[in-house]
Amino acid sequence: MATNTLKSIRGMHDITPAQMPAWRRLESAVMDVFAAYGYDEIRTPLLEKTALFFKAMGETTDVVEKEMYSFDDRSGESLSLRPEGTASVVRSVLQHGMLYSSPIRLWYMGPMFRYERPQRGRLRQFHQVGAEIFGAPGPDADAELLALCCDLWRELGLQGVRLEINSLGMPDERLEFRLELVSYLMQNRGALDEESLARLQRNPFRIMDSKNPDIQELLLGAPELHGYLGEESRAHFKSLREILDRLGIEYTVNPRMVRGLDYYSQAVFEWITDDLGAQGTICGGGRYDALVALQGGKPWPGVGFAMGQERLVELINQQGALLEEPLHVYVVLVGREAELEGLCLADSLRREVRGLRLQTNLGGGSFKSQFKRADRSGAALALVLGEDELQQSTVVVKHLRRQTDQLSMARDQLVVWLRDWLNDSHTAMAGRLE
Ligand code: HAM
Repeated sequence: MATNTLKSIRGMHDITPAQMPAWRRLESAVMDVFAAYGYDEIRTPLLEKTALFFKAMGETTDVVEKEMYSFDDRSGESLSLRPEGTASVVRSVLQHGMLYSSPIRLWYMGPMFRYERPQRGRLRQFHQVGAEIFGAPGPDADAELLALCCDLWRELGLQGVRLEINSLGMPDERLEFRLELVSYLMQNRGALDEESLARLQRNPFRIMDSKNPDIQELLLGAPELHGYLGEESRAHFKSLREILDRLGIEYTVNPRMVRGLDYYSQAVFEWITDDLGAQGTICGGGRYDALVALQGGKPWPGVGFAMGQERLVELINQQGALLEEPLHVYVVLVGREAELEGLCLADSLRREVRGLRLQTNLGGGSFKSQFKRADRSGAALALVLGEDELQQSTVVVKHLRRQTDQLSMARDQLVVWLRDWLNDSHTAMAGRLE
C-alpha cells in the first residue's frame, strides 16, 4: 500500500464489512428490545448550536470544556458536533411540543464526537444507543430503563455485566455537600494530585471518581453525599432499590459515582464489564429533572441512558452469538445473452422469493473463474445460466457447500424450488440454535 495515501482522522474509524455482523447483531437486538417496551425512535442533527451544550451539560464538565468539536459557520455562528444525545433530544421535544403527551419514551442511535485521547474503547467519533423518558418523576421510570438494559444484555448473550447505582440528590442538597467537600479537600490540599487540584474549584465532584488510589484513600475520610440528601431524595432512591430487588436486577450502590455530566440529579447508574480493560463502562445514565427547565421549558422530569456501541460490539465479539447472514445464491452467467437474461431472472427471484439473498456475477468470465468467485462469495448455491440452459429454458442448480449432484430444472419451477429450499434451511438453522 502506498504510504502517502490518505487515512481516516485519529480516533475516527471505518466500520468495515467484516465488522458489520456484530454491529447488525447489536442494532437489530436494540430495535427489538425498544419495540418490546413501546419506545419511539427519534433522530436529531449531528450539528447543533454550541450554546445548547453549554447550557445543558455545564461549562465546567470535561466534555464541554475540552472535548467539543466547535467551529464558526460561514455566518459566524458557533456550532458543535454533538458530543452526546440527551441535550439534542431535550431541545427537540421542546421545539416540537412533544411534552404535552407525556410521559414519552424515546430512543436514538448514532455517531457522537468528543476530542478525547484515543485508546481502546475511547474514540473521537463513537456511536451511542440512548433512551430518554420525559414526564415520569417516579423511580418506576428509572427501573424500567434498567430492566430494558438487562433484557438487551440477555438478548445479546452478554455475561458478567454489573450494575452500579448512586443518588446525587437535588441541586440544593448538593450545594451544601459541595461546600463541605471542598473544605475537606482544601484542608488536605497537599495530598491532591494535579488533576484533582485543577478540579477543586471548578468541578470538585469529579474528584470523587478519581482513579488514583491515594485520592481514593483520602476520600475515605471525606463527607458522604448521602448524608446530605433530603427526605424526598432518600425516598426516591429507596423506592428504586425496592423495585430493582423485586425485578431481580442485581446492583451495588457506589457512593462515589458522580458521572461526567452536570445535568444529573437523583439516581445515576452505570453498567460495567471487566472484559474491556480500562474503558469498561458500557452504559451510563440517570435522572436529570432540572434539564428541561434549563433549556427554557417548564420543569419537567427526565431520565435516560446511553450505551457505547463500539464497547458493546467488542463485547459481542468476545462473548455473543453473531447472526449469520451469508449469501444464498450466486448466479453464474456465461455468454452475452445469458448475462441479459440472467439479470431479469435475478430481478424476478428477488421479488418472488421473500428473504432470498442473491448476487449475480459481474464482468463476465469463464465458468471456472465465475465458480471461483461464487465459492468466495460464501453463497450456498450457484445458479448457472449458459447457452444450453437458454435454449432449453432451464437452469442448473449446484450446491457449493455440500457434495450432491447438480440439478437441472425448468426455469418456471425455480421459484417454488427456491422457496422450499429456503424454508428447509431456516428450519435447519433454527434446529442448530435450539
Ligand atoms: P456518557 O457517560 O458520557 O453519558 O456516555 C455514555 C456511554 O457512551 C459511556 O458509558 C460509553 O460506553 C460511551 N462513550 C462515551 N464516550 C465515549 C468515547 N469517547 N468513545 C467510546 N465510547 C464512549 C452520556 O452521553 C449521557 N447522554 C447519557 C444519558 C442519557 N444520560 C441521560 N440520558
